[in-house]
Amino acid sequence: MDIKAIQDDIRSEWLQFEELMKEALWSKSDLLNSINTYLLDNKGKQVRPLLSLLAARALGNPGRLTIACSVVSEMIHTATLLHDDVADEATQRRGVDTVQYKYNPAASVLTGDYWLAKSLTLIVSERNMEVMGFFTKAVEELSEGELFQMQKASSLDTTEEDYYRIIAQKTSSLFIAAIKSSVFTMGASPEVLSKMEQYAYHLGLAFQIRDDIFDYTPQLNTGKPTGGDVKEKKLTLPLIAALKAAGEEERELMLDAIRFAGYEDDKLAEQAFALVEKYNGNAVAQSALEYQCNMAQECLMSLPDSIYRDHLVELTRYMGSREK
Ligand code: FPP
Ligand code: MG
Repeated sequence: MDIKAIQDDIRSEWLQFEELMKEALWSKSDLLNSINTYLLDNKGKQVRPLLSLLAARALGNPGRLTIACSVVSEMIHTATLLHDDVADEATQRRGVDTVQYKYNPAASVLTGDYWLAKSLTLIVSERNMEVMGFFTKAVEELSEGELFQMQKASSLDTTEEDYYRIIAQKTSSLFIAAIKSSVFTMGASPEVLSKMEQYAYHLGLAFQIRDDIFDYTPQLNTGKPTGGDVKEKKLTLPLIAALKAAGEEERELMLDAIRFAGYEDDKLAEQAFALVEKYNGNAVAQSALEYQCNMAQECLMSLPDSIYRDHLVELTRYMGSREK
């Protein structure tokens, strides 16, 4: 999958996206500018703005408001990761030290606040209430999803239904805001808007399930350590599936191990890897995510045929098989 080549097909919009994001982040604080430079030097795949701009391009020529939507989606995403890495005490992301580890947790939270605030400032400056509403709804859901996940980590009784609710809120919500806002600003019909919202919903689920499989796949080099989810008592689909397939005794043993383990307990991760392997938890999760990719791909047919739609299809397939 050549993401760079896809970016090249929307070169003009992509350059505007990069330019506007840099402009929006400028600060008078040296510390903040140094953290921002570190974040921009170690940026991720930037899939949200890419999806947002491709969907817009499939409907015409995006203007400043649409570009702003793509910038806001990436800025909110970065803000959530800066907060999430503190919540998870993560040391590595994208193959480099996290800001909370390299600088300190407070700097990470405050930089996240800054990115969030600046993204909202940008969207407010565009004076479009609907678009503002799409993003504020996402921010609400992101926070609620994280807190529900925390609640479930404490009660240790995450069902499959809970899991889908968590990932819809913590991941699909921002995919929806990114794509729905850009399509909306291109004047899409209510039918197309609704289909593209469904597209983003399914794609977000697929993206997060793949991420959760990574955590049980130490042989992949994703730039993030594995085994963290179970240590944080987060029950994700590979383990939920394995626990469902296991017998009562095996299930209780695993749950007790999670309940009573210390955070640094590597034995716990090994025990969870073994259970997931024994009951094919990763394969069950993989087939669930392929279902979501297929659902997403169907929704894309609401867009007119173009190379941009083809790229969206490619990216949808890529979500199902990506290795980082
Ligand atoms: C990564 O999940 C985290 C998210 C997708 C959402 C994080 C949201 C918040 C911290 C709350 C809202 C914050 C703001 C600024 C609105 P993960 O931990 O499963 O994935 P990872 O392996 O990439 O860390
Ligand atoms: Mg995390």
